[in-house]
Amino acid sequence: MRWRGRAAPYRAKERANISFFIFIMFFAVFGVIILTQLLLLERPNTTGSSRSRYEDLQGWEGRTETGNGDAGEPPPPAHAPLDAVWQPVAGTRFRFYVYSAFVERRTVAAVRIIAATKTRGADAVICRMWLPDNRTLTLKARVKAIRENWNMKYSATYVLCLLRDSGVKPQETVGASISVISSNWPGRAPTNLLTVLDTEPKSGIEENLHICVKPFHYSYSREDWLLEWFELNKLLGASHFYMYNESLSAPVGCLIDHYKKQGLVTLLPWKLPIISKVEIRTEGQFAAFNDCLYRSMSTAGWLLVIDVDELVVPRRERTLPALLTALRASYNPPSKSPAAFLFRNAFFYLRWEDDAEAVAPLVTARKTRRWATPHALKNRSKYALRPRDTVELGNHFVWEHAPGASSAGVPTDRALLHHYRAACEYGGMNCLTVPSTVDRMAHRWTEELLKKVTEEKKVLARVCPK
Ligand SMILES: *[C@@H]1O[C@H](CO)[C@@H](O)[C@H](O)[C@H]1NC(C)=O
Ligand SMILES: *[C@@H]1O[C@H](CO)[C@@H](O)[C@H](O)[C@H]1NC(C)=O
Ligand SMILES: *[C@@H]1O[C@H](CO)[C@@H](O)[C@H](O)[C@H]1NC(C)=O
Repeated sequence: MRWRGRAAPYRAKERANISFFIFIMFFAVFGVIILTQLLLLERPNTTGSSRSRYEDLQGWEGRTETGNGDAGEPPPPAHAPLDAVWQPVAGTRFRFYVYSAFVERRTVAAVRIIAATKTRGADAVICRMWLPDNRTLTLKARVKAIRENWNMKYSATYVLCLLRDSGVKPQETVGASISVISSNWPGRAPTNLLTVLDTEPKSGIEENLHICVKPFHYSYSREDWLLEWFELNKLLGASHFYMYNESLSAPVGCLIDHYKKQGLVTLLPWKLPIISKVEIRTEGQFAAFNDCLYRSMSTAGWLLVIDVDELVVPRRERTLPALLTALRASYNPPSKSPAAFLFRNAFFYLRWEDDAEAVAPLVTARKTRRWATPHALKNRSKYALRPRDTVELGNHFVWEHAPGASSAGVPTDRALLHHYRAACEYGGMNCLTVPSTVDRMAHRWTEELLKKVTEEKKVLARVCPK
């Protein structure tokens, strides 16, 4: 038809025009990309952008590397690496922070980094490491959400910087500096730098018991109770406490400072820029527990994971190391003995009456009424573990042991988790009517505890005036 006859040559011409246009555009876009790259490389010391600030800090001028970073030798980091500070990984689609780095020799040869990022579909990253002998390496990395993340958008995460094929042994990474870098942005200057800490257990630490506590938040302010809690744990054999400061009151801060000066407490800052309870499970506490696991590994024979309203009270032995050693020794052969022991939870409600037989104004002396039947294992239980045999901690049990190790429950006639709680579990429900019993096991320490608490209060009145 006429219409077609006219349209065909017209369309052919149009197609040719479009092709030409695309051809030109292609070169134009390509040219702009090349020009931008050149300008960025040659650019003088620009100021004003946050990016250039980091580059200035580290003496990197946006140096571009190709492939595995072998092309251009990156200069050594110019500023000191940090430990126990949340630092950002730049250039990722989702927020990505790193906190600390540890040597991993057991599951895989790696540097294990405590991080927080998107639970699923996290950005791919690589690691760059500066060894003490000045070698620089770029390592492949595996990003692995820590299991207890409650399906929230963000999660405590491990980044495993893999040493496979690098020719470097885990031991050689002690004291190195390491950065986590977005794979999308391999040429950019790192925005984080961590010190690699050793995890090799020292000798003679078998009976050391250390305690991990989740981050303090909501300006934690129960200093009188915390003093009793510290002193009873010391009597029970604890020799060190790892604590994280999201927020705490001034009097609690002063109390902790007082113990810190005696070398009893490691208090670490905990300002994670991910919204607690909305984007990540309570204060990113699983990152704290697992930081504590690796931080304590070289000096703690045992690690106890409890909260500040909980105490593990042995029912025969006077200390927890004595209990744990006895429990382990009861297995035959000893190599089959568990690497973690779980303690069953029993609520001691603070609203229940005071014990008429209490001989001291201490919570653990006055509050002796508890649930008659403790909770089942893994339901609110807390635990003690051997750090060297453990890979990943949860709130109520161990998620992953080193190959060959296992967990076991502790019979209720050997120890209980005393959980001193102000209120009922679920708001209005009248929990005070659950079947209960009076348990005066904690009275075994009351006399000694009162002496310690009274002594410390005298000192604190001087160093922490109200
Ligand atoms: C590493 O580099 C620093 C600074 O250039 C130098 O002082 C030091 O001797 C080097 N160390 C080794 C083991 O080569
Ligand atoms: C706890 O952290 C806050 C906020 O970062 C800080 O102001 C305070 O000094 C810290 N307290 C102690 C005892 O370190
Ligand atoms: C935990 O124990 C309580 C009290 O015995 C019980 O009501 C609750 O269902 C248990 N939770 C789970 C997950 O088993």
